[in-house]
Amino acid sequence: MEISRNEERVLRHLLSTKDKGFVREQSLEIESLSDREISSAVSWLDSKGLIELQKETGSRIQLSNEGEEFLEKGLPEERLFLVLQEEGKLPVRKCMDILGPSEGKIALAQLSRFGIRPKAGEISISDPDAIKKEIGRRKKFLVSLREGEKDLPEDLVDHFRKRENVISVRAVTTRLVKISKDGEEYLSTHAEEERIDFLTPDMIVSRSWKGKRFRSYDLNTPVEKIDSASKHPMTYLIERVREIFLSMGFREMKGHYVEYSGWNMDALFIPQDHPARDMQDTFYLKSGKEVEFEHPEILEVLKKVHEKGVEEYPGWQYDWSEKRARELLLRTHTTVSTIRYLYENKEAPLALFSVEKVFRHESVDWKHLAELHQIEGAVHSKEANISTLKWLMRIFYESLGFKDIKFLPSYYPYTEPSIDVVVKINGKEVELGGSGVFRPEVTKPLGLKEPVIAWGLGLERLAMIYYNLSDIREIYNSDLDWLKNFRLIP
Ligand code: PHE
Repeated sequence: MEISRNEERVLRHLLSTKDKGFVREQSLEIESLSDREISSAVSWLDSKGLIELQKETGSRIQLSNEGEEFLEKGLPEERLFLVLQEEGKLPVRKCMDILGPSEGKIALAQLSRFGIRPKAGEISISDPDAIKKEIGRRKKFLVSLREGEKDLPEDLVDHFRKRENVISVRAVTTRLVKISKDGEEYLSTHAEEERIDFLTPDMIVSRSWKGKRFRSYDLNTPVEKIDSASKHPMTYLIERVREIFLSMGFREMKGHYVEYSGWNMDALFIPQDHPARDMQDTFYLKSGKEVEFEHPEILEVLKKVHEKGVEEYPGWQYDWSEKRARELLLRTHTTVSTIRYLYENKEAPLALFSVEKVFRHESVDWKHLAELHQIEGAVHSKEANISTLKWLMRIFYESLGFKDIKFLPSYYPYTEPSIDVVVKINGKEVELGGSGVFRPEVTKPLGLKEPVIAWGLGLERLAMIYYNLSDIREIYNSDLDWLKNFRLIP
């Protein structure tokens, strides 16, 4: 066990007062230690069992505002008494004029306790000596209170307690301390030596620490719990999702926020007059000048497949515009990364995934955001088919703890068949995203030989059920209480 310099000094002091038994903590006087330092040392010594500590509850009596005022100008009964002594007799109304209505009332009430009561609207004193004596005691009491005297006459404490606002009485606990057997033992086995508790900049500059002993840290000392930094709930969820795919041997891909329409849409066989290409859904960039398409060799290929199709598939049969394919936009889905990655890495088998942000021109409400994340993935393999896709989706959601999942037939221009993934939770069905097998119009023109299954799942939707939120906006509104106390579903 280690004790600090201050604790040691307090303990040594207590050794010297050992014969007195328990002493009040307040009475400890140790050179250059403040009351606070002493009190903190006492608490630590107590937690280490080096002292014995007793608590004594008592009350602290203090003058309150009105009491201070009475001390300055005299107690109301005293002031009335002095006037009466001089005048002999006074009409009650006059008394009230002299003292003011509230203090006049107090003065009359107090004097009535001495048997002085108005007769026929007038007031006078009899036995002045007894009153004078009692008033004198009361004054002395207030003075001794101000001076912090401890031994106060009980009857006067009672008296003033019953009068409003003159004194305040608070319960206080005082600590009484005494060195314990362990404390004595500690001191007898630890010689007094100079030890450094705190290293200060001065000590570093002057090198005065050299050759001295430092107090070591006691790692078992209990400390107050504080809020430390923690990860955002979404960061936790993204990490779990990444772990699941990485552990299955998937390769993580990274894409770009800004993409060509050609990759985001045309390469995925989305026709140029498709409603999803409207300004409604997509943020296009104002570019002004024509931008170079990154893979100019596919422009011809895309034109052909959109206008005439591929093999026995007839295509969309319209005039395809290269200009539209060159337009820049904020990617509306991460499937753009998948198709680009597959084109740049054609050899199968390949399993890919990403968890990245996409942008949609969407009005924000309880279940829609304009910026959201997608859990994207694809498998390019001989083995890729609708069954492996469903199996993968089940494995993925089961790893996150969702056992009850369902598939609904759906439609995307780039997949056939297409299926939406639905999770059943507390009797509700939540749609989490789309998936399917890429159409030949997508894979063949880009030279992909094997079937490709792909999916794009909403991360925020998943977070809502994962963290039990009823409004998607709660995820990003930085509610500190939630950020500190959110619970992971095991
Ligand atoms: N890209 C689709 C979306 O954004 C999801 C999807 C991905 C569908 C891959 C089929 C295949 O909703």
